Amino acid sequence: MLYGKLTPTPPMSSNLLAGKVGIISGALNEQSIAWKVAQKAHAEGARIVLTNAPLAMRMGEIKKLSAEIDAPIIPADATSMEELNTLFSEAQSHFGGKIDFLLHSIGMSANIRKGKSYGDLDYKFFQQTLDVSALSLHKMLAVAEKQDAFNEWGSVVALSYIAAQRAFLDYTDMSQAKAVLESIARSYGQRLGHLKKVRVNTISQSPTKTTAGTGITGFNAFYEYADKMAPLGNAPAEACADYCVSLFSDLTRFVTMQNLMHDGGFSSTGISEAIVEAITNAGETAAQ
Ligand SMILES: NC(=O)c1ccc[n+]([C@@H]2O[C@H](COP(=O)([O-])OP(=O)(O)OC[C@H]3O[C@@H](n4cnc5c(N)ncnc54)[C@H](O)[C@@H]3O)[C@@H](O)[C@H]2O)c1
Repeated sequence: MLYGKLTPTPPMSSNLLAGKVGIISGALNEQSIAWKVAQKAHAEGARIVLTNAPLAMRMGEIKKLSAEIDAPIIPADATSMEELNTLFSEAQSHFGGKIDFLLHSIGMSANIRKGKSYGDLDYKFFQQTLDVSALSLHKMLAVAEKQDAFNEWGSVVALSYIAAQRAFLDYTDMSQAKAVLESIARSYGQRLGHLKKVRVNTISQSPTKTTAGTGITGFNAFYEYADKMAPLGNAPAEACADYCVSLFSDLTRFVTMQNLMHDGGFSSTGISEAIVEAITNAGETAAQ
């Protein structure tokens, strides 16, 4: 499998998650980051419950993944405490015990979908963006805590984007949602660390060609720019899945409350030769 610029060979499976069980949200189709995480976690020996919003479920593709990795699907709108309660209790019944890991891979902005500019946001949509894309992590963890659903040394990962720290205007209200998401991960990481030795981290992933990603105005420019800036190039979804697996595994037991950059070096780069070259070439063309 080709794997981005410089990492042609995905790692071999080594049963890193043998004996572990977890819930994976957000697998919509084969492009979804969560889809790859579910496949990799399964290949590493984990047993999985898949979840997504009932609407996404009706689109049917998730059933293919469910059959492939032998994982039941428990639908839940991640903004509904009631549905999340059912999700965590049914998942524990299915596993016959508590949960070792949870992936939050949920994002949606009606402002982005409708092409609203940052100065013209619809505030009802804004609140929905925050609820779906950020508060849903708090809700999941609050339900899990109340049900005492995690095993000790469990691991929670939520997916974020660098627009939490830097201005990317086309990402509109999702920038604020990601800032809130990362903050919830820190606060809940502190709480669950004390209570259950459970760790909570966010992974700040490169632009990735998925349904959520490509819905953003100017996505191709984001994607190409980041790819040209990052010394390793953009991190593909498969590599993000590898990173998630490492965070679910016992090899990262003391990593918590972190926002972990998974971006090929983009966030630490000032300027790259590829960008200098592109701007120089554009300048020369304009001067001709
Ligand atoms: N694609 C990118 O460029 C990129 C970059 C960094 C971070 N991320 C983040 O990765 C995560 C996964 O996104 P993706 O790129 O794989 O796209 P995706 O569209 O495949 O996944 C988004 C998921 O959110 C689910 N969802 C939306 N509303 C929901 C609700 N109310 N309840 C439950 N689930 C709901 C969707 O059904 C879908 O499965 C998101 O948090 C996204 O912001 C994506």
